[in-house]
Amino acid sequence: MQLPVYMDHAATTPCDPRVVEAMLPYFTEHFGNPGSRNHAFGWKAEEAVDTARQQVADLLGADRKEIVFTSGATESNNIAIKGAAYMYANAPAGSTKRGHIISSPIEHKAVLDPVKRLEKEGFDVTLIDPRQDGITTAEMVKDAMRDDTILVSIMWANNEIGTINEIPEIGKLCHERGVLFHTDATQWAGKMPVDVIADGVDLLSMSGHKIYGPKGVGALYVRRRKPRVRLHALTDGGGQERNFRSGTLNVTGIVGLGKACEIAKAEMDADRERLLALRQKLEARVTKELDVVQINGHAEKRLPHLTNISFGFVEGEGLMMACKDVAMSSGSACTSASLEPSYVLKGLGVGDELAHSSLRLSFGRWTTEEEVDFATDYIINGVKKLRELSPLYDMHNEGIDITKIEWAAH
Ligand SMILES: Cc1ncc(COP(=O)(O)O)c(C=O)c1O
Repeated sequence: MQLPVYMDHAATTPCDPRVVEAMLPYFTEHFGNPGSRNHAFGWKAEEAVDTARQQVADLLGADRKEIVFTSGATESNNIAIKGAAYMYANAPAGSTKRGHIISSPIEHKAVLDPVKRLEKEGFDVTLIDPRQDGITTAEMVKDAMRDDTILVSIMWANNEIGTINEIPEIGKLCHERGVLFHTDATQWAGKMPVDVIADGVDLLSMSGHKIYGPKGVGALYVRRRKPRVRLHALTDGGGQERNFRSGTLNVTGIVGLGKACEIAKAEMDADRERLLALRQKLEARVTKELDVVQINGHAEKRLPHLTNISFGFVEGEGLMMACKDVAMSSGSACTSASLEPSYVLKGLGVGDELAHSSLRLSFGRWTTEEEVDFATDYIINGVKKLRELSPLYDMHNEGIDITKIEWAAH
C-alpha cells in the first residue's frame, strides 16, 4: 500500500488507464480540428467527437444532439444558469424585475457565484435553506416558487456531505409549473444512474475529472424537446456546439470524457455496491470506537462512496496534521486570509468548531479494503491522541457541561 492513501475522489479522480489509451492517438496521429470540414483529418476528429457525444448521451439517457462539450462543470453551470437567465428574463437588462431564480446556499461556488452575479444584475434570488440533514425537497422548492420564477438550480448530490436531493420530484414540479430546471450533477452523474427524461431535468452539468476522465473537460445537457431549452450564448466566436459554446473543441479531452462515461455506465453498479460496503464499515468503526462524533448529512440518502464526519474535542488543523498519511478534505476552506469553516456544514447548522474538525473521505474505483482499514485506524488513533491533550475533553468526561462554563476574560 502506497502512502498517503488517496481518499479524496470527490475532489478529483485519477484517469482510468482505458481512458488515457483512448485519448492518446488524438494528440498525435488524429490531431485534426473537427471544424475542418474539407479533409480527412477534420473528419476523423469529428467522428471521434460524435462517438463521445453518444457515449455521454447514453450515460444520461439523452439524445446526442443535446450534449454540449465544455471545459468542465464550472463552465457548464455558468452557461446553463446565466444563459437561461438572460434568455428567459422577463425584463431587459437594467430593470429590477428580470425574473426570479431559486437555488440553495449549499450549492458549489460554481453555481452560487453565477446566481449571485445575476442577483446584482437585477434578478431576484431565493436561496432555500436545506433541512438539517442537508436535503432540499420538492416541497421546499414549491413553497419558494413565484409567478415570475424562471429557473431552479439545485444540485443532485452535495460535494461536501454527499446528500441527495429530491431531483425527480423537483423536475416534475418545475415541468408542471413551466419553470426551467438545472441540476449540477458533478458528483452524481457517472456514479449513479441518470435518466434526464424520467427525472425531468432540462439542464445538467457534469465534469470529466470526477469520473476517471481528464481534467478541463465537461458537458452540459440541454433539453431539446418538451421544452426545447434556449440559452443566451456567453462566448462569441466560431459558433461551435450549436453556438452554446464557441471555441475549437478539446478533442482529446472529449474522447476521454466519452470513454469515461462508457466505462461508468458499465461499471457503476458494481462500484457503488463495493464502495457502500467500505463506507459502512468505516462509519461503523468510527462511531463505535470514538465518542462525540457526528456523521453529517442524511443517514441513508447520501452518495455511497462519501462520508463527512465531525469529531468533537479536536482542533481542525491538528486533526489534518495528525492524519497526513490519508489524503482527504477538511471542513475548513482556505481563503486568502484565514481558515473559514465550511459554509456547507454551517448551512446545516454545524457549529464553527465542529465544522473545522470535520473530515470528508471519498472513495473511488481503486480504493481497497486495506486502504479503508488503514485510514480508519489512522483517524481513530489520531483523534484519540489529540483528545489526550485536550483539557476540554477531560472536562467533558468528568460530566462538566462545557457550554455552561463562564470563561474569564483577560
Ligand atoms: C458539485 C460541483 N460542481 C462543480 C464543480 C466544478 O467542476 P469543474 O472542476 O469541472 O469545473 C465541482 C468540483 O469540485 C463540484 O463538486
